[in-house]
Amino acid sequence: MKATALAHPNIALVKYWGKRDDALILPHQSSLSLTLAPMSVTTTVEFGVAADQVEINGHVSKGSERERVLRLLDALRAEGRQALGPARVVSRGDFPMAAGLASSAAGFAALAVAARAAAELPADPKSASVLSRLGSGSACRSVQGGFCEWQRGERADGADSYAVQRFDAGHWPELRMVVAILDRGEKEVKSRDGMKHTVDTSPYYPAWVKDAEAEVPRARDIIARRDLEALGDLCERNAWRMHATSFAADPPLSYMSAATLGLIQHLREHRKKGIPVWFTLDAGPNPVLLTDAAHEVAAEALARACGALDVVRCVPGGDAVLRTEHLF
Ligand code: PMV
Repeated sequence: MKATALAHPNIALVKYWGKRDDALILPHQSSLSLTLAPMSVTTTVEFGVAADQVEINGHVSKGSERERVLRLLDALRAEGRQALGPARVVSRGDFPMAAGLASSAAGFAALAVAARAAAELPADPKSASVLSRLGSGSACRSVQGGFCEWQRGERADGADSYAVQRFDAGHWPELRMVVAILDRGEKEVKSRDGMKHTVDTSPYYPAWVKDAEAEVPRARDIIARRDLEALGDLCERNAWRMHATSFAADPPLSYMSAATLGLIQHLREHRKKGIPVWFTLDAGPNPVLLTDAAHEVAAEALARACGALDVVRCVPGGDAVLRTEHLF
């Protein structure tokens, strides 16, 4: 009743922004992401211990972090095939100190895969994706590698809201994502709170939902033909539109800093000079640059010239996998 799994983070090319069900983490629209290597999170789960214990990166979890882990485990325990009992969870990320990428997607994907294996359930990416979604929405796209599409689903119980892999990590090996850390601070408004505020108050929100849903099949077609310029254009306009919904919230919400806008401006000038580089931006000030292997060094230099404190170069990552070595 003990298992360990490793999973990678992912970056959305078409973002998820807004829930139709806060408890089950069901999105209003579908999204599409790329799983990123080399960073990963490893998680060991053992059922049948004396009491639930959760430890993340050497600290005992408390508050909402612990609650989210237990919510995922409770869902598995409620499946009721066998009495699993309390669990010990130990999780460790190998992210550079300020990778700027949320480790929660990789963390909850690794937790779901490890917990299912510890419960002696067969490997099943769909069930693991549904389970990981209960911890963090974007986690459902980290169960598999390459390009994954989180289909919003229609059902009220969320059984049809999970990610499917459209292309594996080997489909476009020369694609690169370069994370530019402009600011190492904690973000002021968590994505969970920012998206709720946007859904509740932004008059642009319905337009966002319609547009993002329509962009997903376009992104899929572009990725199928490995068209970097078309993907760059799509990824930038989707990021702008996500942020535009939040600018229009009441009170307005902006995740962009002056440095973010400076980098975006600089990037456009580079593009005019023939360097193929585009950006995307999650709920924070640190852009992620989309380019190819031949231009990743130029993309890093551009980020540093715009004040990046750290730069993390990423390649397409693979599926979450079970490991034989446990963390305890
Ligand atoms: O899954 P969460 O709660 O970390 O929300 C993720 C939201 C964005 O990162 C902004 C977009 C996305 O699709 O990952």
